[in-house]
Amino acid sequence: MNFSVAIDGPAGAGKSTIAKLLSNRFGLMYINTGAMYRTIALKAMNNNIKAEDIEKLCLLTDSLEMHFNSDRLIVNGEDVTDYINDPFISQNVSQYAAIPEIRQRLVKLQQQMSNKYNVVMDGRDIGTVVLKNAAFKFFLTASPEERAKRRFNELIAKGLDVNYDSILSDIIKRDFIDSHREVSPLVKAEDAVELDSSNLTIEQVVDTMANYITTTLNNVSK
Ligand code: DC
Repeated sequence: MNFSVAIDGPAGAGKSTIAKLLSNRFGLMYINTGAMYRTIALKAMNNNIKAEDIEKLCLLTDSLEMHFNSDRLIVNGEDVTDYINDPFISQNVSQYAAIPEIRQRLVKLQQQMSNKYNVVMDGRDIGTVVLKNAAFKFFLTASPEERAKRRFNELIAKGLDVNYDSILSDIIKRDFIDSHREVSPLVKAEDAVELDSSNLTIEQVVDTMANYITTTLNNVSK
């Protein structure tokens, strides 16, 4: 089995930034599973496919070849990374991510990636479903207000015209949908290490996780 690190947690907790840095530190491939769900939402909306049209959504998903090139997601040869982070996708993605048939397909793809490469994978169900046997599991949280503030600053830095209150209400709404859906709701895996990043810098979070991984590996090899 390959070496893998699973990072789960709610939207805006800093998972992707942290996962990217950890992947550099340990030479792992970074798999951003949220980007894969966002791609389904993007392509579905571009093709006017509603979340209720499961058959069409399955055909669409099966027609997409996805792979990661560093932190970029390439779909059927096209880099979709800049499109999938649009706030419009953030507002609509949960309804697509709640569909069991879509999850089944993307989970299978994610597991194939982890069989091929040593990965750090972030999402909502990585420690509980996708990589149940991951060598390391982390559950990263932060208060909704702190997460909204971070997302707000990120989007403003990208030059987007956004409003803090609507970002906060989106985050609260998305937390609710992600943790109350029937299939693979967002929950902490029993064996995951929980970290609240509200009052920590990115470097502090990465250092804490990296130290935990290194110490555990050293103890195992003794
Ligand atoms: O992490 P993110 O905001 O990019 O995730 C986008 C959406 O996809 C979000 O609504 C949660 C969902 N998601 C999921 O259900 N399972 C995952 N493994 C990753 C993301």
